[in-house]
Amino acid sequence: MAVKDEVLAFLENNKGLAVSGEEIAGELGVTRNSVWKAIKSLKAEGYVIEGVTNRGYTLIDSKDILSAQSIRKYIKKAQDCQIIIMSTVDSTNNEAKSLAAKGAGEWTVVISEEQTAGKGRLGKRFSSPGKTGIYMSIVLRPAFSAADSLAITTAAAVAVARGVEDISKRKTQIKWVNDVFMDNLKICGILTEASMSFESGGLEYAVLGIGINVKRPEGGFPPELEGIAGAAYDTECGDETRSRIIAGVLDRFYECYVNLPDKGFLEEYRKRSMLTGKTIEFTAGGEPGTGVVEDIDGNAGLVVRLASGELKTFTSGEITLKKRS
Ligand code: BTN
Repeated sequence: MAVKDEVLAFLENNKGLAVSGEEIAGELGVTRNSVWKAIKSLKAEGYVIEGVTNRGYTLIDSKDILSAQSIRKYIKKAQDCQIIIMSTVDSTNNEAKSLAAKGAGEWTVVISEEQTAGKGRLGKRFSSPGKTGIYMSIVLRPAFSAADSLAITTAAAVAVARGVEDISKRKTQIKWVNDVFMDNLKICGILTEASMSFESGGLEYAVLGIGINVKRPEGGFPPELEGIAGAAYDTECGDETRSRIIAGVLDRFYECYVNLPDKGFLEEYRKRSMLTGKTIEFTAGGEPGTGVVEDIDGNAGLVVRLASGELKTFTSGEITLKKRS
């Protein structure tokens, strides 16, 4: 963690109290000068930090700036998580993977205000501008089989759909396999990365990455995403909305995760499935095809009635949907 993030976490834990630069430096094992520099750049980012001579620094207000404390106060179920807030990072998935490789525990949650190289599925970029979105990655160490662990992403889509809808009061849908939509615009993408253990044949760890567009970025989405990407709020949302959504999504995911092998969440996935009943165009095995989606099966496969009349079930790796399906 950068000194700035460590100083912020320290001030968060002592919010409202005056702590001297010397005390912070001593606790963090850094110089007073680096504490002073960290405070200066936190102030430049919008944190209101009061400096009182001879008493020290007090974090007064952080408005809609993400902090572990602002999130934690809304968490009801996933209380055992360890939240790490970063102001910037290339990708929270990368950061979470490197922490997991060093032994970080299950439910370590890495959240960043922005990502400079946010990763999407299939090697794509995920646009991750500052202050308007949620970019978070959760370290998981599933005890289930590798096959059951595949349900992590599907469960996360249900958790995001419910969590965002609970707070925003706007209806969400899931587009197979794991994109969350509002009014036909994508508001969330999910990327799960895993490390296998050769010894057990199971997962050593998985990193569940969730990106949610909470507000429209100032100046709009990049031109290539116009008409494709949307946000949970078109207008201003209240202070701490992102913290409330993060807490809601963590709680909803916790509910699904503790009983993951039961796949009880699939019932809700089906109800929210955007493609069911729709005609889709796709490519499978290099061949184009069309069909009508009839169902989502017990492994979150897409059950499609092909133009030939045959009923076929596709897994996400087998099929590419045409963009506008
Ligand atoms: C997609 O829509 O293709 C998946 C997007 C996943 C984006 C999230 S944001 C947090 C985490 N860190 C990343 O680099 N990617 C995921």
